[in-house]
Amino acid sequence: MATARPEDADAEGKDRVIVGIDLGSSHSLVCAWIDGAPRLIPNGAGEVLTPSCVGVGDDGRILVGKAALARRATHPWDTATRFRRHLGHPHAVRLGTRDYRPEELVALVLRTLVRDAEAFLGAPVTEAVVTVPACFSGEQREATRAACELAGIKVERLLSEATAAALAHAVDLVTDEARFLVFRLGAATFDVAVAQLTDGMIGVRASAGDDSLGGDDFTALIATQAFANGLPDTAGESVAFMRELLALAETAKCELTRRGTAHLEAAYGETSVGVALDGDTFATLTQPLLNRLWYPIERAMRLARIRAADLDHVILAGGATRMPVIRALATQMFAREPTTTIDPMHIAAIGAAVQAGIAMGDRALRGLDVLEAGSRASPTVASSSTATSVTSSSDPTLDLALGFAADVGKQPVTAVQGLLANALAELRKRYIDAPGQFEEHLIDLLVTQRIGQRVAVFEAAADAFHWRLADHLDALGSRGDWIRRVLAEGDDWLALDERRRFEWLDLAALGEAGLDAPLVPRWPEMRIMRERFPTLIGLFVSTGTLANWEAAFDALPASSRDRPKRVAPGAESRLSTAAVPADRDRRRKAWLAVALIVVALALCAFALWHGTLRR
Ligand SMILES: Nc1ncnc2c1ncn2[C@@H]1O[C@H](COP(=O)(O)OP(=O)(O)OP(=O)(O)O)[C@@H](O)[C@H]1O
Ligand SMILES: [Mg+2]
Repeated sequence: MATARPEDADAEGKDRVIVGIDLGSSHSLVCAWIDGAPRLIPNGAGEVLTPSCVGVGDDGRILVGKAALARRATHPWDTATRFRRHLGHPHAVRLGTRDYRPEELVALVLRTLVRDAEAFLGAPVTEAVVTVPACFSGEQREATRAACELAGIKVERLLSEATAAALAHAVDLVTDEARFLVFRLGAATFDVAVAQLTDGMIGVRASAGDDSLGGDDFTALIATQAFANGLPDTAGESVAFMRELLALAETAKCELTRRGTAHLEAAYGETSVGVALDGDTFATLTQPLLNRLWYPIERAMRLARIRAADLDHVILAGGATRMPVIRALATQMFAREPTTTIDPMHIAAIGAAVQAGIAMGDRALRGLDVLEAGSRASPTVASSSTATSVTSSSDPTLDLALGFAADVGKQPVTAVQGLLANALAELRKRYIDAPGQFEEHLIDLLVTQRIGQRVAVFEAAADAFHWRLADHLDALGSRGDWIRRVLAEGDDWLALDERRRFEWLDLAALGEAGLDAPLVPRWPEMRIMRERFPTLIGLFVSTGTLANWEAAFDALPASSRDRPKRVAPGAESRLSTAAVPADRDRRRKAWLAVALIVVALALCAFALWHGTLRR
């Protein structure tokens, strides 16, 4: 079997056998581009999902995949799972008689996949396109490359999983132009990518994610509920029991997807408890996790300057998007059913195989390519005209912001100040001398308020900027002035009603995403905000958009301009020092004049009455 027919491959790709590998925290897959189509390759057990699991047998032999997973229940100490997240960190795991670095464990999984592929293809595999979460840092990407090297394969390209999913979807499209958003929730990570297909080129316009949010967290909440229902706290100290409980919770979660209800029974010592789940109870239980999905989506859409209505497709990827609660949320977020034509658990591997087909020069794929920052050793995005606003997913400032955002989501209010201080200290250490990045990062911290403890974060941010940065502002030149202006506006801003603040920011962000007819009449409200908080509002909406907004408002027929606008109730009193529109000013003066006349008449009447009495 050949991966690409000779007549379909160009000279450059002739002797190369490249496969696509989706390296997941819970499962990994290998897929090849064969005769113009992707083929998922089964492992020795005949399954396309290979557990990312490594263990040591009684005889000291290394076990990988299903065989290792099967022994986990009885030999928890000799089995390693979920090690991909430790890539890039010095986190060794002891199995049997020796310690394994994360790269070594990943390499064992990769080698197994490559062997399966070689057996299937009947040819040695030379290279691989390997997927990584979009939010993987530079160190994590380097460690992934090191793992591939240990496994004896050359990395053709590291591709973000969400981008791979976009590519898999794009291959089947008949149009040349499409805008799509990939919503990928795996076992341990969440990614969003906004991509645009233009003449066969997929430009990733923006991506964002949360590297500590995935299907495992939903499983963990079910297990937590068992404690809430009466399991003793001491049960949590038993590693073996906790593994068993999590396995039961995982089964219940998948059962819930399949049947709409599920029941978990757990027993520890004398105590036995049950957890009954249906769609509603699960949605309530997992609400805190569902809330955390909004922020990366909003961020990616804001960076890509796109509105939900302008997306042609919303594609689900990652096994956790099988949960009805996630599908319902995605439907609500984008006001349409998301696309699941390709199995979300296979889509990233298929996309990686498409990229492998492109690299091997398959003519069927000629013209299709991906522009994604950080995906090659020397990125090609800078020279691209189609990918105008590509953002680097391996940008360490973004990592820091996302890490901070993820931490904040999990911490009580009291811990937020400390977290913020740490984030700022780290930020200053790394970027104080890197022009341009500082503002971008500050913006991230400011908008982090939108997740978790919104108000507390914002207030902590304002405070921390005051005391952490005040002495550095002068050294920062024009950037320092900019921060000073944010701080100056901060106190007044925080004095406003919280709900309104968010409404105004949304209004500004909506305007920036694309001015449309229903938004234009709200210009007077935005003008007041802009005049009072020019820097803060400037974070969300550009000067150009504001000018267009004003012009569009002025161009409205007088009748629709004079109609009462949807000025947020109470905005006038809260914004009393803001610029007051001229007609309201005139009305106020008229009332003042009437009041003065009434007072004068009253005084005259009093004087006359007093005079009469004295006479
Ligand atoms: N039927 C189902 N119902 C609910 N959840 C499911 C179902 N099938 C799979 N999952 C969940 O999907 C997740 C695994 O998905 P996937 O294989 O895409 O993740 P991964 O690639 O290993 O993780 P990551 O990409 O985050 O590293 C697990 O959390 C699993 O519980
Ligand atoms: Mg995955």
